[in-house]
Amino acid sequence: MEFTQAGWHPGSWRSKSLMQPVAYADPALLRAVLARLAAMPPLVTPTEVETLRMQLAEVAAGKRFLLQGGDCAERFEDCRESIIKNRLKVFLQMSVVLVYGLQMPVVRVGRFAGQYAKPRSAPTETRGGVTLSAYLGDSINGHAFTAQSREPDPNRLVTAYTSSAIILNLVRALGEGGFANLYNVENWNLDFAEQSPLFGEYKAIIARMRDALRFAETVSQQPVAGLGRVDFFTSHEALHLPYEEAMTRSSTHHMYNLSTHLPWIGKRTLQLESAHVEYMRGIRNPIGMKVGPELSPSALASLVRHLNPDDTPGRLTLITRLGVDGIAERLPSLIAAVRATGHQVVWCCDPMHGNTETAECGYKTRRFDNILGELAQALDIHASEGSVLGGMHLELTGENVAECIGGASGISDKDLPHAYRSSVDPRLNADQSLEMAIQVVGKYATGR
Ligand code: PEP
Ligand code: CO
Repeated sequence: MEFTQAGWHPGSWRSKSLMQPVAYADPALLRAVLARLAAMPPLVTPTEVETLRMQLAEVAAGKRFLLQGGDCAERFEDCRESIIKNRLKVFLQMSVVLVYGLQMPVVRVGRFAGQYAKPRSAPTETRGGVTLSAYLGDSINGHAFTAQSREPDPNRLVTAYTSSAIILNLVRALGEGGFANLYNVENWNLDFAEQSPLFGEYKAIIARMRDALRFAETVSQQPVAGLGRVDFFTSHEALHLPYEEAMTRSSTHHMYNLSTHLPWIGKRTLQLESAHVEYMRGIRNPIGMKVGPELSPSALASLVRHLNPDDTPGRLTLITRLGVDGIAERLPSLIAAVRATGHQVVWCCDPMHGNTETAECGYKTRRFDNILGELAQALDIHASEGSVLGGMHLELTGENVAECIGGASGISDKDLPHAYRSSVDPRLNADQSLEMAIQVVGKYATGR
């Protein structure tokens, strides 16, 4: 017997209205690719998915902090050792700062190993009088502005699967081995970050943590257990439902999406009657929902009841992305509406997507101060509403890019054209990410 929701099966989304659809020229090829994927081994296991769900239940209860982050859009060409390692280094640095500063364990969830499909505001893009399909993420089409590259190609779904597997393999190996051990902290230093104005502060935090550990070991006369192993979970937007359906598997009477631990529903596809909500309704994974300014408190409450009718702990993470100018007006009524359902959720702040602007040089950017400003307000609002800000969701990279403006290293508008690599949204670089963690800890401490 399967414990699934009434009327649900992995393909039941097909009878609902599908937003952000992809038109393939060769549907038979798509079917063949999906059949191949459905026969492949899963990328993650139900046990890991359940572990994350239980940890998220602790986040909801204010006992852990969720750090979720990574690229806006992963690229196949970024499936490289240095890029994967640098991103893990930033994650480790940030999580040490958060563990020490917040005095609680951190759950690390990457936007990686599967973040290959992108929703777009417009289905087409026009340049110099030529109109082509918009770039929809590397699992669908290419970024280059040519007719051939922008044509959706089903074979890209296989490359998305294999790239995810390769990334996960290295992430797991590094998490198991000495790389992530706090005593090997020098391994995590990024060359360019050592010039950063905040590197001294970071090193002082590490030194204090090490002293505390040595003290604990001296007193107990044994090593502190579990230090050598670090868990990384994965997440991506479950946008391309044919792929998600093909990666759905049955285990112990439940249906799991085993392409990732934490799939989320994007802002553009989050409606009660949407195909995306229908798909997510029946899987057992913890799921995320991106809550934007247009979602009313009552619509959010209906979605919470619909997607978690039994109030399973850790099932729902609400990722608010309301903007530095919108959060104060909107977040309190969203919190009140969810509270009225009686359901427990994780509240996570995405301070990136409500703060995107176009820089003078024409690039899409975000200001460090606006990102921090939204996070600081989220902390205050949750505290004053008697709620808990459980985590933060950032677009970041371990590379020395210049995509977001500001931070201690003073990236300005003029730097963007020289080191802008994102194919969709601007990310915090390694320096800015570490600085964000240090600043959040500071705000958290003063708010207590
Ligand atoms: C994203 O996370 O990259 C994204 C598109 O977010 P949202 O759905 O919140 O706009
Ligand atoms: Co984005």
